[in-house]
Amino acid sequence: MEPPQWTLAELLDEVAKRLQESFEKYRAKLEVEEVGRLTYVGHGTARVAGLPRVQSQELVRFPGDRFGLAFNLDPEEVGVVLLDRGEGIAAGATVRRTHRVLDVPVGDALVGRIVDGLGRPIDGVGPIHATARRPVERPAPAIMDRAPVTVPLQTGIKVIDALIPIGRGQRQLILGDRQTGKTAIALDAIVNQRDTGVICIYCAIGQRSASVARVVDDLRRCGAMRYSVVVATTEERPPGEQFVAAYSAMSIAEYFMERGEDVLLVLDDLTRHARAYRELSLLLRRPPGREAYPGDIFYIHSRLLERSTHLRGELGGGSITALPIVETEAQNISGYIPTNIISITDGQVYLSPELFDKGILPAVDVGKSVSRVGGKTQLAAYRSVAGDLRLAYAQFEELEAFARFGTRLDPATRKILERGRRVREILKQPQYEPLPVAQQIAVLIAVNAGVLDEIPLAQVPAAERLIRQAVAQLPEVISRIESGQPVTDQDRGSIVKIAMQAIAAFAET
Ligand SMILES: Nc1ncnc2c1ncn2[C@@H]1O[C@H](COP(=O)(O)OP(=O)(O)O)[C@@H](O)[C@H]1O
Ligand SMILES: [Mg+2]
Repeated sequence: MEPPQWTLAELLDEVAKRLQESFEKYRAKLEVEEVGRLTYVGHGTARVAGLPRVQSQELVRFPGDRFGLAFNLDPEEVGVVLLDRGEGIAAGATVRRTHRVLDVPVGDALVGRIVDGLGRPIDGVGPIHATARRPVERPAPAIMDRAPVTVPLQTGIKVIDALIPIGRGQRQLILGDRQTGKTAIALDAIVNQRDTGVICIYCAIGQRSASVARVVDDLRRCGAMRYSVVVATTEERPPGEQFVAAYSAMSIAEYFMERGEDVLLVLDDLTRHARAYRELSLLLRRPPGREAYPGDIFYIHSRLLERSTHLRGELGGGSITALPIVETEAQNISGYIPTNIISITDGQVYLSPELFDKGILPAVDVGKSVSRVGGKTQLAAYRSVAGDLRLAYAQFEELEAFARFGTRLDPATRKILERGRRVREILKQPQYEPLPVAQQIAVLIAVNAGVLDEIPLAQVPAAERLIRQAVAQLPEVISRIESGQPVTDQDRGSIVKIAMQAIAAFAET
């Protein structure tokens, strides 16, 4: 092989070029990394010296790839909220700045998965290959980017869809003492999104592991994990993770909303979220205020819930319907946290332990519940039954208190009582049985029309079932109701007729 013919000048050029290249390659790169030192680690928080330029809410890294959030920027030290458990991290350890804020994976890859408060998978089925990451803290959409709430979000629960309707993009609080069925209502609403294309996110904050496991089990059994994401922090997780979980869940929801989709986000619950924040604030020695909560507790919840909205059509028209849950103590709905959250939501569903004890389930106290925007979105058919229903129920509740004294009742009063009892019976509903719109409307029309007045109370549930089955005979009426048209007198007539036929058959058997 002929050696290449170089002139001396060319050869020198070539040598110079190669030398230059290898210099480039091996030149030491200087990087400034800010490293601080841990001066104190406690339960959930830590203090770090030597990070003077760290920013508020910046992620810092401890040995072993554990993270914290810079929270308090004091002149000598930085107060850090631990996002991982503190075990194994000791004073003296190095702490590094990351120059990043906390973010979570978002996208379709999360659907069907269970993640922790930082978006890391905890369901043991492998890593999540997410399309993107989003910061957990984001500003809420501007007022001009929002559209009025116009489309109903059907929960499938008669008493809610008829009397306390929720619209897509609304923030509706579910509130009540422990064990009154708050979680149950949220889960039924999720289960009812089966064929609606609404993506559901259930965020468990500071709950017992057993409760979270039960929720996940129930969602699986109902086939709801197919379109749901579970963000779960249990009570043994650090308060920092419990605190950020709500924002993580909101960021995951926002990704879908900004893609033009409708999302249902359950935050179960904000009482525990507030407690986690109070714990962190006290550990970081922020001044406590009312009920020992820090002064910005109202702001942390409004900042969160303001992010749920209905976007304008030009922005894709997506929505996040938020169902924050608050647990009251001894029915005190005027406690600090409940009143704060009542004031930043568009209504509340109040669950009463007294109704629960009487077996009136769901234990919704209609008088103390309200939906401030959902009414405008409600399908027309509901509007035609809700008025009568509410009236019958209110009259009944008033009279029932008196009737208990055993006074002799005139026939008109007795009629109101009998009707009211049947309305209450009809509004009962077992868990995990959300109902389609047309079936709800049919039974509500039937009870309003007095079809059930002669049926013994104990047999009302069975009669209801027959009426619901009978609706299938009226496909045109069903499609008119579902498309949001008002119920005509003729439609009402046909519903009453098939309802009477249905229970006539029932009465014979
Ligand atoms: N509509 C219902 N019908 C029957 N049982 C219900 C209903 N709603 C709730 N429950 C039951 O009541 C209990 C408490 O409900 P849960 O939703 O866990 O309460 P909370 O979240 O308020 O503590 C659960 O065992 C649940 O299964
Ligand atoms: Mg619960």
